[in-house]
Amino acid sequence: MQIRSSIFVAALAIIVPSFVDGARQIKFTNKCDKSIWISPLSHPFGLQLTPDTKKLENGKDFSYQIPDEGWTGKFWPRIGCDEKGDNCQVGSSVPFCSLKKCDPSADTKVLFHFPQINNGKEVIYYLNLMEGYTISAEVVPSRTSATCNKTRCAVSLDSCPKAEGTLGDLRVTKNGSAVMCLAPILKWSHPLPFGFGRNAEEGDGKWYSCLPQVVSPEECRNNIGAKTEYVKQVHRDCPTGFAYSHDDEGQFHNCSNDVNFEVNFCI
Ligand SMILES: *[C@@H]1O[C@H](CO)[C@@H](O)[C@H](O)[C@H]1NC(C)=O
Ligand SMILES: *[C@@H]1O[C@H](CO)[C@@H](O)[C@H](O)[C@H]1NC(C)=O
Ligand SMILES: *[C@@H]1O[C@H](CO)[C@@H](O)[C@H](O)[C@H]1NC(C)=O
Repeated sequence: MQIRSSIFVAALAIIVPSFVDGARQIKFTNKCDKSIWISPLSHPFGLQLTPDTKKLENGKDFSYQIPDEGWTGKFWPRIGCDEKGDNCQVGSSVPFCSLKKCDPSADTKVLFHFPQINNGKEVIYYLNLMEGYTISAEVVPSRTSATCNKTRCAVSLDSCPKAEGTLGDLRVTKNGSAVMCLAPILKWSHPLPFGFGRNAEEGDGKWYSCLPQVVSPEECRNNIGAKTEYVKQVHRDCPTGFAYSHDDEGQFHNCSNDVNFEVNFCI
């Protein structure tokens, strides 16, 4: 009896802590050869994650704890920032910039939706490259099922289209090297010097943006916006990522409620 109850206590000691911090988490690892900064951008009506910016030196990792109440938002890497994590060379797009100095939001974005813990609803994640991309990424769920699988997004700035029809070169260079690849819609509509600052409802811009009030999903999938070099390249290098709005090949990854994730940058 004595022995049995101490085994019971020992078992509790192992089980209880993992139950108490049953909190879900996302672990970010920087596999790049330089520092990156991670900043969760939470849904405006939801809970915020802390810290709001985390510097990760190369080879280092950090885990964001997801509140049991749930969390919805996105992450993207920023590079070449100052000591406060501001004025980055890459990724200083809204809201991490003052309006005049904003970069195009051509970032490799990873989005998560965590419902409340243990409520039976699925956690969803996906990769959004509809505005462009910067560095490669992968998402690894702790437990896989159906669409909840490891997602590799092995994009490279070397394969960013250099001759995208009338849009030309989609790369943005800073200090002589390519730092981001603009999706056609951003090249078309983002103000100079990055893009052409043209109206997203006119000309080819209509097919690149596929704004719901202008173009139906079917029209969008059957027109030039779905057939650009950019889209082909994203589908090749980042098979389940969304490359344009209404992208059929983009996929939501639906995971069970209690799954944890690893997100690696520069894979
Ligand atoms: C992950 O799941 C999606 C959806 O089922 C599938 O299209 C994709 O091929 C899978 N990826 C891998 C690497 O198995
Ligand atoms: C880029 O070049 C500018 C001007 O020479 C310099 O001030 C800046 O520090 C450089 N940035 C990086 C990240 O090398
Ligand atoms: C995944 O979740 C999304 C969003 O809730 C839903 O629209 C979709 O049908 C789900 N997919 C699967 C395969 O369950």
